Amino acid sequence: MRYWNSLLLVPSLLWFLHMCASHIHAQIPTNIAIVGGNIPSASGYNLVFIDAFRSTRKYGLAKTPWVALSDDQYTTDGWPIGTSAGTVLFTENPSGSLSGTYYFQGDGELTLGLISSPYCSIINVTQAFGKTTGYVVVGSSATILMLNFKQATNSTFRNLRLIRPGFTIEDADTQIFHPAFLETIKDLKILRMMDWLGTNANPDTVWGNRSLVTDTT
Ligand SMILES: *[C@@H]1O[C@H](CO)[C@@H](O)[C@H](O)[C@H]1NC(C)=O
Ligand SMILES: *[C@@H]1O[C@H](CO)[C@@H](O)[C@H](O)[C@H]1NC(C)=O
Ligand SMILES: *[C@@H]1O[C@H](CO)[C@@H](O)[C@H](O)[C@H]1NC(C)=O
Repeated sequence: MRYWNSLLLVPSLLWFLHMCASHIHAQIPTNIAIVGGNIPSASGYNLVFIDAFRSTRKYGLAKTPWVALSDDQYTTDGWPIGTSAGTVLFTENPSGSLSGTYYFQGDGELTLGLISSPYCSIINVTQAFGKTTGYVVVGSSATILMLNFKQATNSTFRNLRLIRPGFTIEDADTQIFHPAFLETIKDLKILRMMDWLGTNANPDTVWGNRSLVTDTT
């Protein structure tokens, strides 16, 4: 009985493989090498966005930025609310890989600080026209960057930007992705987004809770 079933399976299988092969053949040109790749998550460990805040961790406490604020201290799109907040831009990066002078900008009158970030400094902070601007210098031996922000009134921190060395806010808004990232994926014809989307251990089970491009990070 089992034997006859198997015999019947053979032609079906051959037909199936033939259909697959002709289908694939129709889509992929035979003269071009096809390479796919896994895109790592857009976290502080990877240089993906021109604005480093696009891949920062969720905002947290000013003294311990890796610890989240209470749920009622975030706007729906993720900006922190309060008189202080902090964030982890990157940790454990090979020294020198993210060094340079970053341009900072944020709404309101902010005081900027560094948390446990050796070889980094904050310079030329100016408050004018409802904005705070300045520079964060990441030294060639730096492997960690964690920042915090303080303001006099309990309100929402908004439009925090940290533009990577050599770029402007306009670049961050128009080009969005860092050219070094685009260079690494330029030959890939198929992108695997599993890590980028945080598929494993993702607590979100409803569509309405997904991340949006308007989210802060
Ligand atoms: C700031 O105001 C929010 C309400 O807008 C409140 O939930 C929060 O406790 C306040 N935080 C501080 C530090 O006062
Ligand atoms: C910071 O200010 C000093 C003194 O005005 C200036 O020489 C330097 O170029 C400024 N740095 C940046 C990154 O703009
Ligand atoms: C969806 O988001 C809401 C608001 O943040 C939260 O209360 C709820 O637990 C989330 N649900 C799931 C299934 O992630």
